[in-house]
Amino acid sequence: MKNEHDLSFDDFDEVVNPRPEGCDFDDVVEEALSRRGFLGGVLALGGFAALGGAVLPTGAKAAGNRFAFEAVTASTEDSIVVPKGYRAEVVMRWADPMWSDSVAFDQDTRGTAETQARTFGDNTDGMEIFMHEGRTLMAINNEYTNRKIIWGNREEGKFANADDVAKGMLAHGVSVVEIAHDGTGWGIVIDSPFNRRITPKTEMVLTGPAAGHDLLKTAADPSGTKTFGTWNNCGSGKTPWGTYLACEENFNGYFSAEDEDHKVSAELKRYGVSASDWGYGWATIDERFDVSKNPNEPNRAGYVVEIDPRDPNSTPKKRTALGRFKHENAECVINNDGRLVIYMGDDERGEFLYRYVSNGVYAAGVDTDELMENGTLYAAKFDASGKGTWLALTEENTGMSLAEICIHTRIAASRMGATTMDRPEWVTANPNSDEVYCALTNNKNRGAQNDEGVFKTNAGGDALPVEGPNPRAKNKYGQIVRWRPAAGDHTADGFDWDLYVLAGNPTVHQDDRAGSDNVNDGNMFNSPDGLAFDSNGLLWIQTDGKYSNADDFAGQGNNQMLAGDPVTGEIRRFLVGPNEAEVTGLCWSGDRRTMFVGIQHPGERGDSHWPDGGASVPRSAIIAVTREDGGLVG
Ligand code: FEO
Ligand code: CA
Ligand code: CA
Repeated sequence: MKNEHDLSFDDFDEVVNPRPEGCDFDDVVEEALSRRGFLGGVLALGGFAALGGAVLPTGAKAAGNRFAFEAVTASTEDSIVVPKGYRAEVVMRWADPMWSDSVAFDQDTRGTAETQARTFGDNTDGMEIFMHEGRTLMAINNEYTNRKIIWGNREEGKFANADDVAKGMLAHGVSVVEIAHDGTGWGIVIDSPFNRRITPKTEMVLTGPAAGHDLLKTAADPSGTKTFGTWNNCGSGKTPWGTYLACEENFNGYFSAEDEDHKVSAELKRYGVSASDWGYGWATIDERFDVSKNPNEPNRAGYVVEIDPRDPNSTPKKRTALGRFKHENAECVINNDGRLVIYMGDDERGEFLYRYVSNGVYAAGVDTDELMENGTLYAAKFDASGKGTWLALTEENTGMSLAEICIHTRIAASRMGATTMDRPEWVTANPNSDEVYCALTNNKNRGAQNDEGVFKTNAGGDALPVEGPNPRAKNKYGQIVRWRPAAGDHTADGFDWDLYVLAGNPTVHQDDRAGSDNVNDGNMFNSPDGLAFDSNGLLWIQTDGKYSNADDFAGQGNNQMLAGDPVTGEIRRFLVGPNEAEVTGLCWSGDRRTMFVGIQHPGERGDSHWPDGGASVPRSAIIAVTREDGGLVG
């Protein structure tokens, strides 16, 4: 493949797997035109709450102005910007030691497979805090690694030998660390009995309806119940019983075939698996990543993995009941009747938003395996009217077996006619009300045509009409949709929805690309991704978007983190990241006086030396944000 190093995951998948062109031309045009009229009307009305067609009842507790900070301006500096009175310090960086036998990071070689195995992984993403026996345990996803950085000592940033490939592999996975504050700052507790690296080589079990199915059996695991690791873990989740959920996202790009012309099945194609990987070369050191030899191996990835951070010897569990797709995060809610509800996005252009509802109810001492294995998956359908429905992915509705629904979840949701979304990223539930929010980061294929005038689709051939919560063609800026379950019941079939914010650039555009009314030249951003509510009910928004600070993105600066008031709609910029980084992952210390924020892939295109400055190698890192007066930060 040419220039694959410079393509995003989605773009690479589209190059190797051009999208089918099967949707009805006239229907989509009609849809697009009617929505254009609708949007124009809404913008004329000037209210963001009206954008979705429905105004949600404001049932959230009265908030007033709860921002305890002055907004910061956009920045293009290679540093962290926080408001006056706040401080940001590095807690841990890629390849920082976790044990006393760990080897410190080598700026010249950038480490070996052996040193990487005993140090913090790369590209920090979703993370959660667990208080345990007075200790602060943190579980963190190490989503992927930037080849040009980890192999920056090699020509063109490509692996030169098997050890380079293994180093890249071991930079992936999940890190569990105990952290502590030593009076001057937070850091890893070296040699804590809880410290653990979980990698693409860590043995785990497959549980739930798909466990043991023929599609999950491989030469290395004829039982179809045992897998060998996790990778590309993006967002996270935390169960009410104190386990960590690591969500496997772009799992497909690690598979390849020795024969470049090898054709994968239609089912694998739907997930972007092809004969070409993204340049990680895993099949060169481990045959299970060669899809021509192990065509079922990709069926064993794309799940939510449950990890117990309090037991370093526990076996992680891949929960097939939660479906297989490019999982972003997993937001757990205990419904009023005690059932477990998990909201999950599938982050790819035109894929779906999902919900899982357990059969059993949660109570102290209940068998939590049962809650994570027996339940129903749903995909969301949004109507233009501001109403929506959860479509149950049952055997009866889909014509697929339960195991097949859990393995080929995208296909099941397509059959049900779920709404194709603008890349669903994190979902978060408001602790003060029944509202749930999801970041829809962007979608350049929405309402877009190819060179022959044929409208683009998702990888399954589903149309991408401009309507409902995806109201803009060639959506560059993204939006945040929110919904309220009928009668406050998270297991109900129906919901009301609207858009909380439509991101945009009001200094460059006067049309719908200016964004909703709560976007202005002082808080504008693009591509919302990470979302989390704090305990006060403020919505924190992290971005992973364009940082050119030019043209459509002029004045937006580097990727950033903002806080939004869910009642008034006001949004303020709180933090700006260093060059070429995304801001992703957010959690709080037990006393809420520290906010931990992830800074991923600084210098992904070569223009950063954060966090250590000088001529140092840029390194993904977690920072601790505190108030200089020691006050609460959420
Ligand atoms: Fe890993 Fe959808 O971001
Ligand atoms: Ca993300
Ligand atoms: Ca991302």
